Amino acid sequence: MSQSRSAEDSTSAVSEELQGRIPRHVAVIMDGNGRWAKQRHLPRTAGHQAGVTAVRKTVEHCAQCGVEVLTLFAFSSENWRRPAEEVSVLMRLFQLTLERESRRLHEHGIRLRVIGDRAAFSPDLRRRIDESERLTRDNRKMTLIIAANYGGRWDIVQAAQRLARQVECGELSGDAIDESRLAAQLSFADLPDPDLFIRTGGELRISNFLVWQLAYTELFFSDVLWPDFDETELNRALVEYARRERRFGHTSEQLRHRSRAVSST
Ligand code: IPE
Ligand code: IPE
Ligand code: MG
Repeated sequence: MSQSRSAEDSTSAVSEELQGRIPRHVAVIMDGNGRWAKQRHLPRTAGHQAGVTAVRKTVEHCAQCGVEVLTLFAFSSENWRRPAEEVSVLMRLFQLTLERESRRLHEHGIRLRVIGDRAAFSPDLRRRIDESERLTRDNRKMTLIIAANYGGRWDIVQAAQRLARQVECGELSGDAIDESRLAAQLSFADLPDPDLFIRTGGELRISNFLVWQLAYTELFFSDVLWPDFDETELNRALVEYARRERRFGHTSEQLRHRSRAVSST
């Protein structure tokens, strides 16, 4: 049975439990590659290599389920602290994966965007990112965001700097800065905030991912190491999400009252 066929079957098996409550935006910290490799007495980089298959499965399954935006954390602004050899393998793997997978993404109708500070990447990698974004920019089935050299605090700082420049040149008054003005300067300005956050690998932290945008996101932590992450574990997260009540500060009673009012109109 082909991979996409089995993904289709597992989707229909859970679709009843999902009751149409599919998150518009799913954001994932793909963690556990190093430990996956260590368990097999392999170098850490073998874990990163194996993680690419899980990326492909996750992208295709999310697109099939009707997720609109999928954000994957590939390299944090703190990951430069790793051994130089590991960093260089990660950069090469990123470039190679873009080269190999962009056409496939395009054929699946997926738009690719990369967020993060690109200045530290090699000119070759920057060119490759530009080409992949250009090739896929009109696709509408799903948006795939790769967060690379991304840090949530970096994002807020660069947004603050842009606002400060507007104030300096008299375009904006300091008092006019509010949540929506600041959010408009973030890397995700034109996208909905994540509805569902998934972190694999068993760690219970945010690690400087989308610190602003996760304010009201539903959190799901999985013990599965990223290279082993598959449709079954993703479905577990989706089903858990569908069961949650998102109150955004309201009470349960208010939400029930409101949904009764909507269904009677
Ligand atoms: C996540 O896996 C991949 C990146 C951070 C690039 P790790 O490499 O952090 O794997 P563990 O956490 O050491 O197992
Ligand atoms: C977070 O994982 C970054 C990515 C998955 C890209 P880390 O493995 O770097 O996180 P910490 O350092 O354990 O918090
Ligand atoms: Mg890790």
